[in-house]
Amino acid sequence: MTRKISLTRYLVEEQRIDGAIPADLRLLLEVVARACKGISLAVNKGALGGVMGSAESENVQGEIQKKLDIIANEVLIEANEWGGHLAAMASEEMEGIYVVPHRYPQGEYLLLFDPLDGSSNIDVNVSIGTIFSVLRKPEGSGVSEQDFLQAGCKQVAAGYCVYGPQTTLVLTVGDGVSLFTLDREQGSFVLTHEKMQIPADTREFAINMSNMRHWDAPVKRYVDECLAGRDGPRGKDFNMRWIASMVADVHRILTRGGVFLYPWDKREPEKAGKLRLMYEANPMAWLIEQAGGAASNGHQRILELQPTKLHERVSVALGSRNEVDRITRYHHEAKAAS
Ligand code: AHG
Ligand code: MN
Ligand code: MN
Repeated sequence: MTRKISLTRYLVEEQRIDGAIPADLRLLLEVVARACKGISLAVNKGALGGVMGSAESENVQGEIQKKLDIIANEVLIEANEWGGHLAAMASEEMEGIYVVPHRYPQGEYLLLFDPLDGSSNIDVNVSIGTIFSVLRKPEGSGVSEQDFLQAGCKQVAAGYCVYGPQTTLVLTVGDGVSLFTLDREQGSFVLTHEKMQIPADTREFAINMSNMRHWDAPVKRYVDECLAGRDGPRGKDFNMRWIASMVADVHRILTRGGVFLYPWDKREPEKAGKLRLMYEANPMAWLIEQAGGAASNGHQRILELQPTKLHERVSVALGSRNEVDRITRYHHEAKAAS
């Protein structure tokens, strides 16, 4: 039975009893959680809050921004800039890094986020979320974009918040994965699941099948074998799900297993993938590994990739360990045969 304690108490215990986090990181995570509550409120208001629809602007990735993308970005920045725990922030919605203004004290952490993941689902009332990653700023004065370019295995905290039928916050500080559910009457996140574990095997995969003709051979092989079901080489039937919000697809996988793929494809061959390494793939990869799953770009562990730029993209396969290992093996076999 999970102890129904508040996020605040959970973090204090992580700090005091387990020594897993310093006080500054505890404050940072509390502030991110508070920002997520604010975003949750804005999302819930929907058309009544005038937050639906396009902002008629483009972000650095060339994607049209929704009003809520911009609101969520502002909420996260305003909540985090004054507390003294951060040196700088980076976001999907900002081209460069956001250095904490000089009027506030500078802290030793760097925060990266996708303020609202699954933007295409905002206007259709389907689950969306916020994804975040925390790094320690390297030693030295000042802060630059270069300081952010650390491999995912250097993260000190990572998590996401899903705005769905419930608002749920999922968190790791390298001590397993914990799930908190927002209690709206109390206004606080309450621990509802500790030490989440993903089964090693699954019968469920998630991929945007409309891109099938653009996929690389190993991905096609993997999905073809799933589709062949009981009569094919896998000898079992598979189910398919695609929410088109990575945050919601990953949440399903953390809850009941499965595998999620957004692979490199031939539509834009010069891009390594669609999803962004530093604030989408890395935090999710760490959460998945902390829950006993695996995360690969088809060739190697996502968490070992050295980023070369803030908005770097990556090919992603993550979830149940045996499926991800199989996908990686198919890529290695294809490479060896070529
Ligand atoms: P974002 O809304 O932050 O740009 O991310 C959307 C991502 C991800 O959440 C999702 O898995 C994927 O895009 C969906 O892509 P398709 O529309 O190509 O299926
Ligand atoms: Mn996203
Ligand atoms: Mn986004």
